[in-house]
This record gives sequence, structure tokens and C-alpha cells, in this order.
Amino acid sequence: MAPLPKFPDAFLWGASTASYQIEGAVAEDGRGTSIWDTFSHQAGRTKGGDTGDVATDHYHRWPQDVGLLADLGVNAYRFSIAWPRVQPDGSGPANTRGLDFYDWLVDALAEHGIEPMPTLFHWDLPQALENDGGWLNRETALRFADYADLVAARLGDRVGSWITLNEPFIHMALGYGIGIHAPGRTLGIEALPVAHHQLLGHGLAAAALHQRGLKVLIANNYTPVWPASTSDPDIASAHFYNALHNELFTDPILFGRYPDTLAEQTQGAAAGLDAGFVRDGDLKAISEPLDALGVNYYSPTLIGHGDPTPENGGMPFTMQTIDGYPVTAFGWPVVPGGLAELLANLKLRYGPALPPIYITENGCSTDDRPDTDGRVHDAARVDYLEEHLRFLHRSIEQGVDVRGYFAWSLLDNFEWAEGYSQRFGLVRVDYDTLERIPKDSYHWLRGVLAEQR
Ligand code: FCB
Repeated sequence: MAPLPKFPDAFLWGASTASYQIEGAVAEDGRGTSIWDTFSHQAGRTKGGDTGDVATDHYHRWPQDVGLLADLGVNAYRFSIAWPRVQPDGSGPANTRGLDFYDWLVDALAEHGIEPMPTLFHWDLPQALENDGGWLNRETALRFADYADLVAARLGDRVGSWITLNEPFIHMALGYGIGIHAPGRTLGIEALPVAHHQLLGHGLAAAALHQRGLKVLIANNYTPVWPASTSDPDIASAHFYNALHNELFTDPILFGRYPDTLAEQTQGAAAGLDAGFVRDGDLKAISEPLDALGVNYYSPTLIGHGDPTPENGGMPFTMQTIDGYPVTAFGWPVVPGGLAELLANLKLRYGPALPPIYITENGCSTDDRPDTDGRVHDAARVDYLEEHLRFLHRSIEQGVDVRGYFAWSLLDNFEWAEGYSQRFGLVRVDYDTLERIPKDSYHWLRGVLAEQR
């Protein structure tokens, strides 16, 4: 295929990871227990009973992993900081040994000219906070801001840009709504306070980071929402789902208010957004200016009408299968144009309120394994990345201000409820030996980055 068109000069090219998915070493150097330790050790929660106890052992092998990033030629790396390493119980003074790890990592990245882009919360909440209600408890928002400030106090001299939360929608929906992620609660629509408290935590942390002169992003998951048909009920349900998935975590930050669609539709539900947990001044705190928006994109969502019932958690929609596209090993449809579609939607909805964008995650899982030549020929991943990058380039040409792209993920890793069964890495990890094997997609991206420079 023709080479990729040239991206802007200052473009950030990176790869993404997250603490619980790669680090392992869950009981080392004073780390406390996270909700994912608890959850993954409960029977039946993850595929094969897999846990992050060892994961890719990045906690010990990070020098090798930094070497892989350097050799790949990226100029940025998105990783996450494990809150329970920094504050084992979610509050109080910092555990110095926990912070040391990230300190060394940041210095090693700097030696290779790789800009660190840490996420402060990628779902591994200290269990002690969950015991007090987790994100259902407003206090967690205040604890999060304290934690953010502690980390920034140590690393803020070398880390300029910070991502507060990763995919607060997915954390709310899967963790508190339907219970397939930690902490495993099944509250349906009553999980909505989790949205508000995460947003408040984001806003308070953003203010603390700004006080230190640092830049703030949030990494949201976005999906083009397609109605299952042109019928009014399907369209109304698609509007509702769009508000829940795409607007709930963006409107309050960029507009300082909750989406109207959702306020109307949740009226009468047990936990509407005005049910008392939204206090005076909260929306002002939440709308602390955002320096850039992180966009995670995997696939569109097809939504049809559904009547809210106690069984479906009070959700007025049904999620349907998208046919007619190739699918990843996970079964997710591959729709590269969906990336351009959601970027256009963001620009349309937020207009001048939309800050610059970084694609903070994009990638696919494949059933790849080493061939007889010892190499991993993940042609489907190469196609996936290439097609998404072509659409991304077109969006930039059409005026969307996108400043960087991070592939998910550097390494195969612990894919939450799917355990180790879904491989998203540019680099294969052999979970018996923990050996790393760069896949064809890694070599391909390396070539692209060489050309782009
Ligand atoms: C995203 C998560 C990330 C990873 C990818 C596949 O929703 O942020 O940790 O699991 O999906």
C-alpha cells in the first residue's frame, strides 16, 4: 500500500498501557490492594480465573519495555499510575517506594526523548475506598484530587501533561452498571452517581494540577452511535445511548452542564441526575478548563429501542450486533471510518469549546501466535492501524485539531474480564516465559515512524 500521508510535524506518536494490565508485582514495595485484585480473585469473574498478579511483569521488566518503545521510535508513551502503589489505602501520605517506580520510568523515558503521558486512574481503585462505597461515595472525588496532587508533587517537574481518568463511562457502565468489571456492582441506571463523582474528581484534580502549572486531559471512550432503523423509537433510544456514552462525560466538562437528553429521560428513574448528589458549585468545578481531550476509539455501537425494566437495569435501549464488517478476535466490528465520524461529531457538538485532541487509545485484538519462523504475522493489526491512521489524517485535513495518536497497546496484557485471552499488543508476551516478541505490526509502525520524521 502507498505510504501514509505526512502527519503534522509536532505530532505525538505513542503507545498506551495501563498499570493493572501490565505491572504485576501486586504485593511489592508497599502496594495496597486494588478493586481489580479483589475482583479477579473471585470465582467466575474473569476468563480462566486470570488475575493481574504477574501480568507482563512490567514492574520488573520496565527497562526492557522502555527499550522496546525507544526502538519503535515513538516520541510519547501513555501509561497509568497505580493509585494503590502511591496510597495503599487511598488516602494519607505517599508511599515513597511506590512513587519511585514511576520516577525511574519517567527518567528512563526522558533519556530516549519520549514524552510521558500518565493516566492517574485507569480503574485500579484502592480497595479501601471501595469498602467505603467507591465512586458512589462523593468522598472518593476528594481523595482522588489529593492523590493527583501527591503524584504531581513528585513528578510534575518532568511530566507536563496529565490524564486524570480513563474511560469513566466504561468504568461506570461495566463496573457499577452491569458488573462485568470491578467492583462488580449491578446497579443499572442507579450507577449514575458514579458519573458525577468521577467528573467531580476529575475537576478537582484538574484544578490541583493547574495550580502546579501542568496540563490536564481526560481520556474518554467515544463511539459513533447508529440507530438500528429509522423508526422513531429506535432513533430515540439511540439519542439516549449517545447522551449516556458520548455526552455524559463531555458536556459537563466543556459546557458546564449535563446533557438535556439524559436529564429528561432519567426523570422518574430512581437516580436522575438531579437526585441530590449534584451540589451547588459542582458543575463549576467539573468545567475546569481542559487543555486537551483524550479520545479512545474502538468501534461504533448499534442501538435499538428497548423498554426499561428492572431486569435490564432501567435502560431504554438494546444493543445490537453490527453486521457487514470484519471483526476483531473480541468480535468488535472494524470500522475505521467511525473514527472520522466521531471526530466530526465532537467538532459539531462542541465547536469552539473543543480543545485539541489526542487519540489516546486505538487498536485491536487478534488471535496471533508465533509462526514457524518465530515471528508474529499480525497482518490484521497492520491493516487496522493503517486504515485508522488514514481516516485520522483525513480528519486533520478537514480541520479537526488532532495532536497525537497512541496505539493500544504496547504489549499483550491482562484484558480485564477477558483475562489473557485477548491480545492487543504490538509486542507479543509469552505468558509462560514473559518473553517479548515484537510482532509484524511493531515493525510496520517502526517503519511508519521513521518515514514520518
Ligand atoms: C479500553 C481500556 C483499555 C483496554 C482497551 C482494549 O476500554 O481503556 O484498558 O482494555 O479497552
